[in-house]
Amino acid sequence: MYDLTGKVAVITGAASGMGHAAAVLFAQKGANVVLADLNVIGGEAAAAEASQAGPACVFQRADVAKEADVEALIARAVGEFGKLDILFNNAGIGGAVGPLEDIAVDDWDRTQAVCLRGVFLGIKHAIAPMRANGGGSIVSTASTAGIDGYSGLHAYCAAKAGVVNLTRSASLQLACDFIRVNAVAPGGVSTPIVWNGAANREAVEGFLLNAQPLPRVGRPLDIANAALFLASDAAQFITGHTLVVDGGATAGALNTAPKRGQATARGQRTFAGPSFEVG
Ligand SMILES: NC(=O)c1ccc[n+]([C@@H]2O[C@H](COP(=O)([O-])OP(=O)(O)OC[C@H]3O[C@@H](n4cnc5c(N)ncnc54)[C@H](O)[C@@H]3O)[C@@H](O)[C@H]2O)c1
Repeated sequence: MYDLTGKVAVITGAASGMGHAAAVLFAQKGANVVLADLNVIGGEAAAAEASQAGPACVFQRADVAKEADVEALIARAVGEFGKLDILFNNAGIGGAVGPLEDIAVDDWDRTQAVCLRGVFLGIKHAIAPMRANGGGSIVSTASTAGIDGYSGLHAYCAAKAGVVNLTRSASLQLACDFIRVNAVAPGGVSTPIVWNGAANREAVEGFLLNAQPLPRVGRPLDIANAALFLASDAAQFITGHTLVVDGGATAGALNTAPKRGQATARGQRTFAGPSFEVG
């Protein structure tokens, strides 16, 4: 299922975390992948791993915030493999962190440039080759922080909410060309973006676990699998959608979810009628 044989994919942020997992998975499913990242050493290593898993894959250094880099990246895919079927706009940074009143304008702008402008540039430059190819699938990595607010992550929340709604507007424009545009919205996933700068990875993973009802930590492959589904022909009739992949974190009131091994927290009653009848 979710076969990508003969497809050509570009994946940004492919040196690490979810992008790395997606590059290897897409290659395993038969795609030629062009991996892009700022991290050259990690990107080359990920490309070698993806090439071992499937057909030829290559790395290209690209800063998704720079239009010339994104244009060159898409041109590399078409030049090297003849076409573009799939674009996974996945590169991201945490960006400006902290209280609103302390955020420097440059930090705000850099967050938007990588997390939102980067997605816009990817979509913009994928359109011509996808049109020429009779269609394509664009998937972008949003976040549950693009759906819910997270205090202290204001710039990131704004950028990721932008990705969610750009996904909708782009899907409307491009549907007539059979170019589908979707997003994945991860919750907490154990990757370097969440542990870098933290004293201890286990403590961070404990924090992530506490924020969701499913009792295991999110992994890069969870997101790669969702991106694969949206990229593949199995999702042929899905466009404009943001697929939340968060272990249930945004399903509702977390304090009503029993911990593993605990009884459902509903008290003694089995039915709640009109409140005036309860003594
Ligand atoms: N890990 C989480 O909990 C989580 C949750 C929601 C959304 N996300 C999003 O998932 C995506 C992947 O992140 P991850 O968790 O795998 O983190 P990660 O840090 O492991 O991977 C992100 C990659 O993006 C690259 N990158 C950063 N800026 C770039 C730029 N300007 N141009 C090109 N590449 C650049 C980094 O070098 C890195 O390899 C990001 O968009 C992130 O915002 C992560």
